[in-house]
Formats: sequence, structure tokens, C-alpha cells
Amino acid sequence: MAELYSGGMAKAAFLCFILFFLLTCFEGTLGRPLYPLPSQQGKDFKPLQLFRPFNIAHRGSNGEFPEETAPAYMRAIEEGADFIETDILSSRDGVLICHHDVTLDETTDIAEHKEFAERKKTYEVQGQNMTGWFVVDFKLEELKTLRTKQRYEFRDQQYNGKFQIITFEEYISIALGANRIVGIYPEIKNPVFINQHVKWEGGKRFEDKFVETLLKFGYRGEYRSEDWLKKPVFIQSFAPTSLVYISNKTESPKVFLIDDVTVLTEDTNQTYQEITSDGYFDYIKGFVVGIGPWKDTIAPPHNNYLSTATDLVFKAHARNLQVHPYTYRNENQFLHFNFHQDPYDEYDYWIKVMGVDGLFTDFTGSLHQYQEWTTPANGNKSASDILKKISALISHRNG
Ligand SMILES: *[C@@H]1O[C@H](CO)[C@@H](O)[C@H](O)[C@H]1NC(C)=O
Ligand SMILES: *[C@@H]1O[C@H](CO)[C@@H](O)[C@H](O)[C@H]1NC(C)=O
Ligand SMILES: *[C@@H]1O[C@H](CO)[C@@H](O)[C@H](O)[C@H]1NC(C)=O
Ligand SMILES: *[C@@H]1O[C@H](CO)[C@@H](O)[C@H](O)[C@H]1NC(C)=O
Repeated sequence: MAELYSGGMAKAAFLCFILFFLLTCFEGTLGRPLYPLPSQQGKDFKPLQLFRPFNIAHRGSNGEFPEETAPAYMRAIEEGADFIETDILSSRDGVLICHHDVTLDETTDIAEHKEFAERKKTYEVQGQNMTGWFVVDFKLEELKTLRTKQRYEFRDQQYNGKFQIITFEEYISIALGANRIVGIYPEIKNPVFINQHVKWEGGKRFEDKFVETLLKFGYRGEYRSEDWLKKPVFIQSFAPTSLVYISNKTESPKVFLIDDVTVLTEDTNQTYQEITSDGYFDYIKGFVVGIGPWKDTIAPPHNNYLSTATDLVFKAHARNLQVHPYTYRNENQFLHFNFHQDPYDEYDYWIKVMGVDGLFTDFTGSLHQYQEWTTPANGNKSASDILKKISALISHRNG
């Protein structure tokens, strides 16, 4: 705690970071990392914690800052994230960027850019017609002229219009620039759509460019290998064929995301029932180390109270698959009544009762505080522990 929250100093450093970013943004540095590539050689960084479930900062600390921006990621690192999470899409000119939606409408000021008015289009995405400004119709240089905004109106709006969309490489640079080991958790987002609309030299696919980027920055090795511990990564996707396709290109651990019970997989058109069957888990475990289900499909809410949980976590654990559910959010409208409007109660349920292995949260700071109180990194200095030691000492003497 003290290390991560060293008060005024950390805040000042953080503000400097933001200032630096604003300056760099308006200078218009395009297509190259905002930071020089940091060299971690020889530095003795605080390692990734492995004794409690992973704190995965969903789109950065997007509860506080516009999602997937540099300040959202830096804030998440400051707040104690084990991993910073992102969605990878591509610009028209084939540069991989961090952005969740295939359209720019909800989280940028695109509507105010008259010069792009006629780029509004309708495309079929996952079997449905969607209208908007699509990232695949803009070059990186054009995307960089946009400014991001907060998705939810009930969250802090003061950073709207301040930050740019960042590239995959800029995002990696932020993780590697941290003063401790911070993992990355990038998603191969909408690969069917991206491969339809963006073409790369030599017939390369979106997935090829994605893996090339990770390898370029030294992300390699199996889960918990020496290489992985230096640069931890989980590759995630809702598209099983993308995960299978990259299986021979990288040993980095992969996580299969599972959507709502009514959504079919975008590539193989499979139902929730099919992809959560025993047979499918037996197949996919050959390619992934875990699954990332939506939490409300495991313990479906009824009248906003959780009903009995399904055996999904048990089935996954029985096959040595980790379970990283999404998405944990502090606001009342996202908390089921069982949790008494208290996000810590929700974490308590998912960590202690359900036994999940990682949590995607919009509020990394809250999950970090919860974990520091319940499972502190500095060992057990609790009264009960001291009592145990005394009783052990006494029984030793008596024996
Ligand atoms: C999308 O719109 C096009 C053009 O109007 C139409 O041909 C197509 O059937 C529509 N697709 C879906 C899934 O509704
Ligand atoms: C990966 O390589 C092995 C051995 O060469 C091969 O049998 C397998 O089909 C490959 N898998 C994929 C998904 O390409
Ligand atoms: C996907 O599967 C559903 C039923 O599971 C079927 O109705 C639909 O036609 C299929 N779509 C494609 C593109 O195969
Ligand atoms: C602290 O105690 C708990 C419960 O006894 C145990 O699960 C956990 O591993 C301990 N943590 C450390 C760092 O020893």
C-alpha cells in the first residue's frame, strides 16, 4: 500500500505524466511510441504478485478516466493493477490501436468533426447492421486528431476532449514504463470484421500483426515461464478460431472470452451452450489457460438478486482452466442487491465463494484496497496469526 500510495509524491508524478502526455499529444507525434522504448535490463523490478487473484484493469481505470487512454492506464498502474486490459482494433492503414467499439461514436468527439461527416457508414458487424463512424475507415493520422470522452454520463466528464486514442505500441510502452512489473491483457477484438475491412502486405492477417507486435516487444513464453514473469501477458478473444490460429505463433497464454447466453460466436457461430459444454472445454483447453465469462451468466440475477451459480467455474477448474470474469463496477446500477450496494461485498463473493482467479474491474483501486485488506502482500501479521505462532511454540515445548 505505502509503496503504491506514497501520497503527494505519487500524485505529483502522476500529474507530470499527464502533462507530458498532453504536450506530446498536441505536438502531433504520429505512428511512433510516445515513450522511448524502456530498457528493463538489469533493473530489479517488484514482480507480479501470484498469491491472490489478478487485478485486471478493464480498459484502464476507466471508472475515473476515459477508457483505453494513457491516463486511464497510468492511473490503473498507480492504483495497483496487476494487468492493464485493452481492446485491439486496426486503423484503415493497418496500425493496431486501443479502442473498444468498432465505431468511434460513443467514446470520441467524432460527431463534432465536420470534415469526417460523410464517412458515416453502415456495415454488418456480427450479423447485424450498424451505423456510425468506423475505425477501419480512418488512417491513424486522422484518428489522432480525435479526442476521447467518457462513455457513461454518470462518470467524471472533466477529461472529455483531452486525450487521444493510443496505439497498441504506445499501450505496451506504458506497461513497460511502469516502476514495477505490470502485465498486459490485450484482446483480439472483432477479428472477422477487421480482416474483412483491413488488408496488410503479404496477405497477413490481423492476428499475425497482433502477435508480431507482442514478439517485437519481447512478450513470449508459457504462463509463469521465466520470460512470461518478466513481461506477463494474457491474449484474449471471443473468437476461438483466432486463438487456435495463433497457437503455433506464440506460446503466450490465451484466454477464451465467453459472451452472454444469447450471443453466438462471431467466427464459428456457436451458441453459449455449445462453447460451455464439457466436450468444448476439453477441446479449447488445448489452446488456452483460462476462460473469461460475463459474471452474470455464472450467477444470473433475478429481480436484481443473484440466483444459484452454475457449475461453470467448477467445470473450468476441473480442467485446470483459470476463470477471469468481467466486469466489476462500483456504481449502484451495476451492483446486485445481495451486495448491499457495496463493491467489496461483491469481490468477497466472487473471490471467497466462487474462487475465481482474476477479475476485470473498472475500478482497480477498489479491488486493490479490498485485496490489501483481506490478503495483504506483506504476509500475515494479524493477531490470529500471532496467536497461532504462540500456540505452536507452546505445543512444541510441551511435546
Ligand atoms: C444490412 O443492410 C443491407 C443493405 O440494406 C441488407 O442487404 C442486409 O440484408 C442487411 N443485413 C442485416 C443482417 O440486416
Ligand atoms: C500447429 O503445429 C502442429 C505441428 O506442426 C500441427 O499439427 C497443428 O495442426 C498446428 N496447429 C495449428 C492450429 O495450425
Ligand atoms: C448461426 O446459427 C444459427 C442457429 O444456431 C442459425 O440460425 C444461423 O443461420 C447461423 N448463421 C450462420 C451465418 O451460419
Ligand atoms: C495469509 O493467510 C491466509 C489464510 O490463512 C493464507 O491463505 C495466505 O496464503 C496467507 N498469505 C501469505 C502471504 O502468507
